[in-house]
Amino acid sequence: MTDSHSDALVFFGATGDLAYKKIFPSLQALLKRGHLNVPVIGVAKAGWKLEQLRARARDSIEKHGGGVDATAFDKLSGLLRYVDGDYQDPATYQSLRKELGSARRPAHYLAIPPTMFGLVVEQLAQSGCTDGARVIVEKPFGTDLTSARGLNRILFGTFREESIFRIDHYLGKRPVHNMVFFRFENALLESFWNRTQIESVQITMAENFGVQGRGAFYDQTGTIRDVVQNHLFQVISNLAMEPPVRTDSESMRDEKVKVLKAIPPLEARNLVRGQFRGYRKESGVAPDSSVETFAALRLEVNSWRWQGVPFYIRAGKLLPVTCTEVMVRLRRPPTVFPTCSPAPNYFRFRVSPDVVGAFGLTVMDPAEQMIGQQVELLASRHPSAEEMDAYERVLGDAMAGDATLFAREDYVEEAWRIVDPVLKAGTPVYEYEPGTWGPGEVDHRVTPPGGWHNPTVNG
Ligand code: BG6
Repeated sequence: MTDSHSDALVFFGATGDLAYKKIFPSLQALLKRGHLNVPVIGVAKAGWKLEQLRARARDSIEKHGGGVDATAFDKLSGLLRYVDGDYQDPATYQSLRKELGSARRPAHYLAIPPTMFGLVVEQLAQSGCTDGARVIVEKPFGTDLTSARGLNRILFGTFREESIFRIDHYLGKRPVHNMVFFRFENALLESFWNRTQIESVQITMAENFGVQGRGAFYDQTGTIRDVVQNHLFQVISNLAMEPPVRTDSESMRDEKVKVLKAIPPLEARNLVRGQFRGYRKESGVAPDSSVETFAALRLEVNSWRWQGVPFYIRAGKLLPVTCTEVMVRLRRPPTVFPTCSPAPNYFRFRVSPDVVGAFGLTVMDPAEQMIGQQVELLASRHPSAEEMDAYERVLGDAMAGDATLFAREDYVEEAWRIVDPVLKAGTPVYEYEPGTWGPGEVDHRVTPPGGWHNPTVNG
């Protein structure tokens, strides 16, 4: 462990849903790899004792962490501490201060609603828990540009940018990061990765499940805030960024934010919002809700490399499959064989559930003369059980002080700037049938040249 590594992890919201589904499993995974050896202090107001938190951790790991590993879990139990108390009560932070003991560089992970950030950060500072500390905050980082700026102001009251780690777990996904690696490690891609050769780029993030009991959260959020402004903008940044001059966190993040700076605000005419039939009956959802569970949109990236190439995004719940895939279509070659109208070449990049990189090419049909047939040169890989989960990666990186995979202040604000106008525009929301590719309106209004490519699983 280096000197700059966090020497304690404090997580607020220890009895909550995120801790249960993601944090405990990641802690066990970090331990199994030998990447965690510092006290882990859970904070919550539940009237619990440490034993109850340990039991919760065990249950969480059984259900969401692939099962309990006896050795790793023993270590985790030994590292776990628990502070029970109200987030408004200074006594809670005095107890935390005691638990922190001689820790000089604690990481405070705020796995709590953003409305509580201000209160917790202020109390942490007043109790002397923030000296030398880092803070890790969860998405959603605000609900629009104004609120994101407000949250940044709150954090900057106590922390400097280099100590703030804004989580977007999509960045922790290896295949998402691999896009950058793959682009810049292969000369072939760079030869056509520009406005001269590429006709359009489309990204689909489809999920074949609904809101899964998160109706109350989702009805305050909607698809644009939930996955477009953060996860899918990260995907666009990775696809469109210029090669970084160095690979340190700031050089990488500088290039990503430049992509967002080149994107003009999304216009209402370039957006179709949808809502699956039955959404309004979900628990926690308003019976007359106009929140979208689906969005299709068209953006421009007005940079030297990309000007004039439309970027399409489509994301939604209760679609036919669960898959995130990028389709980059090239311009058609001129016609040589009059009997064959050439199909565009493409590059297909699948991020999940498996990782696929495929070139779409045209070859001569075996049965007919001079008729084209589309084939793919395909490389695919199923993630191995040993692979780091996104949360394990981001938690480990934050504690090690590596900010590469975290959203910087300027980045989050640029991302909100792009979607801000449509969040307030009250555009219509069209109903769609569960299990379909969204409302029919998409075909009339927001469709890439040559149409949407609908991913199939096992394809
Ligand atoms: C979360 C969203 O951030 O990302 C969810 O809140 C979404 O609605 C999820 O389902 C998708 O991420 P993953 O890693 O499960 O594909």
